[in-house]
Formats: sequence, C-alpha cells, structure tokens
Amino acid sequence: MRQRSSGSGLLGIEDLTRDEIQSILDRARDFQPRGDETFRRLELLRGKMVVNLFFEASTRTRTSFEIAARRLGADAVSITAQASSVTKGESLVDTLNTLAAMRPDAIIMRHASSGAPHFLQRYLDTPIINAGDGTHEHPTQALLDARTILDRGARLENLKVVIIGDIAHSRVARSNVYLLSRFGSRIVLCGPASLLPRELTQIAPGVTLTNDMDEAIRDADVIMMLRVQLERQHEASFPVNEYFQFYGLRLEHLRLAKPDVIVMHPGPINRGREISSEVADSQRSAILNQVENGIAVRMAVLERVLLGAREHAVANH
Ligand code: NCD
Repeated sequence: MRQRSSGSGLLGIEDLTRDEIQSILDRARDFQPRGDETFRRLELLRGKMVVNLFFEASTRTRTSFEIAARRLGADAVSITAQASSVTKGESLVDTLNTLAAMRPDAIIMRHASSGAPHFLQRYLDTPIINAGDGTHEHPTQALLDARTILDRGARLENLKVVIIGDIAHSRVARSNVYLLSRFGSRIVLCGPASLLPRELTQIAPGVTLTNDMDEAIRDADVIMMLRVQLERQHEASFPVNEYFQFYGLRLEHLRLAKPDVIVMHPGPINRGREISSEVADSQRSAILNQVENGIAVRMAVLERVLLGAREHAVANH
C-alpha cells in the first residue's frame, strides 16, 4: 500500500475554503433542471466509473450519487455492506483495496465510524468522497443545504440558522456548522443538554448553544430539523416520549421566526417525532427541494473530483 500525501476526493467541509464551496454551489446551479424537465443527460464523465460503498442505510444519498454519476455519463456501481465480503470478515482496508484494484475513478463511501474515509484515503490513490462518516461529517449534505438556501432567495452571509435536535450524533449539523460559519452566519444549536456537545462552539465564534426552542427560533432565517439518531445511542439520554413536546417543530413555532423562514430537514423525517406534518408539508418547507438539489450538488462534486477543480466551460447554458 502506498502512502498518499493529499487526497483529491472530498472528505469534509472542514477542508474546503469559502471560494471552493462557492464554486461547487455555482456549478451545481448549471446542473439544476429547468421547469418541469428532468436532470439533463450529459457526457462530461463518459468513460469514468464510480463505486458507491455504503456500510450504513441510505435512501437519498446513495440514490442521488448514483443518478448524478449516470446523468454525467459515468458508470456507477453500488455495493451495500450486507452484500459485501465485510460480512465474511474482510477488513475495511482489504475491502477498499479490492475495490480500488478494479480501477474506479472514485469511491463514494458511507461508514458508521467517524474518520473511516480519512483513514483509508491515506492508503489509497483512488479519491474518496465521504457520503457520511459516523457522527463526523456529511459534506455533500451541507452543500445541498446551502444550494437550497440560495435558491430560496437568501444569501449565506449573516443569516441566523438554528439547528434543532440530536446535534451530538449529527454529521449533518457539523458539516453545516463548518460551511455556514465560513460565510459568517450565526448558528444556534438547540436540543436537550445531553445532545448538545459544547465542542462545536469551538469551530467558529458565531456558534452558540441553547436548550430553549422558542429562544432559538426567534428571528431565525433558517430552521434545520434533525432526526434523533437512536441507532447511535446505547440508551436514550432524554425522555423519548416527551421529545416532541419540547423539541418538535410545530406551526406555532414558525410565527417566532422571520416571515420567510426556510424549514429544512436532511431526511429521513419522523413525522410527529421531531417535526409535525403541517410544517413538513407547508410552503415554508424546503425538504423536497433539498432532495432535488442533492443530485445537482453531487454532479458538481463528482465533476470536480473526477476532472479536477479547474474551470468548466462545457455544459453551461
Ligand atoms: C442523514 C445522514 O445519514 O447523515 N441523512 C441523509 O443523509 N440525508 C441524517 C439522518 O440519518 O438522520
């Protein structure tokens, strides 16, 4: 195995500058469908091959990476942990080396251990795109969230963004904190004390914590709701049955926020647990726009990783 000095994949938002983030978001806009059309089929990545390797459940992320690769003309193969030789005792490094020997141009990977893709990238020349590592980062989710905020007419600068729920176990929250703080937005993290890690306030001066949902939402431009990730907790550290009463988003909360507040959720949503159906299905909700932007943003990320971060003149309208 060779030691690799620097990865050319995408491991986290932490590694990206504000300009790099902006250029991915700008490029994603070129790939968005117009009106009722679907995503255009392009040939920019013809002859390229990507492998999706998912060790954790996924609906949105895996499907949209696959569609994004195919819409750009690349071949995409998906493997889930249950169907791989990991269940036969193969180590992670051996599994990755086996896949790399098939010469894909990139490996898209989701894993339950924080740092798994970073560790593997040190040994692998094939670029790795992180599709979520444990409770650490989920870079393409934060990028698609940012694209969605921009599409609703907001800027990424000087917003008040409140992220509510299981912050402690959320890679989505951490990647969003990195991204939004690069643009100087204020971020309020809100949830039960046991699910609010103080350490996230170290990332940027504009990050604060509160247990009070009304206070968090007051004058918010964006509300991001999170699922409680019970699968990452050995035992719940808060009263599960009362969760919705204290931290579930209901219509009455929206009155406290800015009138044009954007409600977001990375999915999967648990109706009646962290968000009411009335809010999830309301005009303020951008949840399905987020899903749609997942494809455009992942097209931009795949193009950047597979062709390099150079200027793209092709496929602009
Ligand atoms: C999230 C994830 O897997 O990190 N979902 C997603 O990718 N859209 C959040 C979650 O599972 O709650």
